[in-house]
Amino acid sequence: MSNRILDMIEAEPVPVIPDAQTVTSITHYNDWLFSFRVTRPQSLRFRSGEFVMIGLMGDPDPETSKQKPLLRAYSIASPNWDEELEFYSIKVQDGPLTSKLQHIKVGDEIILRPKPVGTLVLDALLPGNRIYFVCTGTGIAPFASLIRDPELYEKYDEVILTHTCRYISELTYGADLVANLADDPLIGEFVGNKLKYYATTTREKSLRMGRVTDLLRNGNIAKEFGLPPLDPKTDRLMVCGSMALNLDVKDICESSGLTEGSNSMPAEFVVEKAFVGEGVTENFDA
Ligand code: FAD
Ligand code: A2P
Repeated sequence: MSNRILDMIEAEPVPVIPDAQTVTSITHYNDWLFSFRVTRPQSLRFRSGEFVMIGLMGDPDPETSKQKPLLRAYSIASPNWDEELEFYSIKVQDGPLTSKLQHIKVGDEIILRPKPVGTLVLDALLPGNRIYFVCTGTGIAPFASLIRDPELYEKYDEVILTHTCRYISELTYGADLVANLADDPLIGEFVGNKLKYYATTTREKSLRMGRVTDLLRNGNIAKEFGLPPLDPKTDRLMVCGSMALNLDVKDICESSGLTEGSNSMPAEFVVEKAFVGEGVTENFDA
């Protein structure tokens, strides 16, 4: 075999699973949350805030011994300019995917279907001055991507990232990200002092406490940053949490005169589920 062919084989090992990407780093935050980074397929283009299907090969079928991919929707938590892809994940102890995914190691392969979609994108909103990101739990993932995208700061004068979780340890991923942003050599100058971070817990004593819905309604968030009430002319919102959270924030937006937008019809706020409800799994496999 010629040296050239040998070089090509060494440079591009054949993936053992379809659409394989290699895990490059992992951080565990507590017993139920972790983040990890993987290699990015060269052809993958996405808009910050979109999600893809990722997963692992499932267990072999007892009758046929064949393995099928076990895939779930995941927001890409890294910005669109990053050479790797980052994900922020729950660990559901009896969850078909995350009971296994939580044990991945650097060098392992995961499946990543390179078909990004989603409504939490800047294009789905009409131009405005101020944007609120409202999220709970792992719902911060799409905003972890957006707050690292220079386009966000070109489009908005003020960015308010709110994150509500039950416990303090669940805030670490977002808090670390925000703390390092201003000094980031690539994005720091765009962020300047435009990003305001408002993190709360609901079941453990911390600096700020309470449900984001209450804090939006009673004006505490506005008071802290000296902001006027929500106004469809100037304010935009993106929401990502449980179905209950999404519906409650949608109600707050609509009560303030804001209209829900989408990719095909941009408007004043957009909503996406951070996960599918209790015991239900949606099939997004396109
Ligand atoms: P599943 O059978 O999928 O879920 C079991 C149960 O666990 C669910 O019924 C639900 O009650 C609960 N659950 C699932 N996911 C979560 C979660 N994220 N937070 C709290 N409870 C949950 N998950 C992430 O961890 N990070 C993401 O960035 C992410 N992005 C998503 C984007 C979209 C558009 C959707 C619809 C879901 C997203 N999810 C995300 C959820 C993800 O698709 C899986 O549900 C999750 O990885 C658990 O998979 P599983 O097979 O272990 O358990
Ligand atoms: P709480 O502790 O008061 O239920 P969950 O794990 O249930 O998705 O909740 C994650 C975080 O979101 C928790 O802090 C929870 O507060 C909060 N939360 C859940 N549902 C709502 C809702 N409908 N409105 C506002 N906050 C919510």
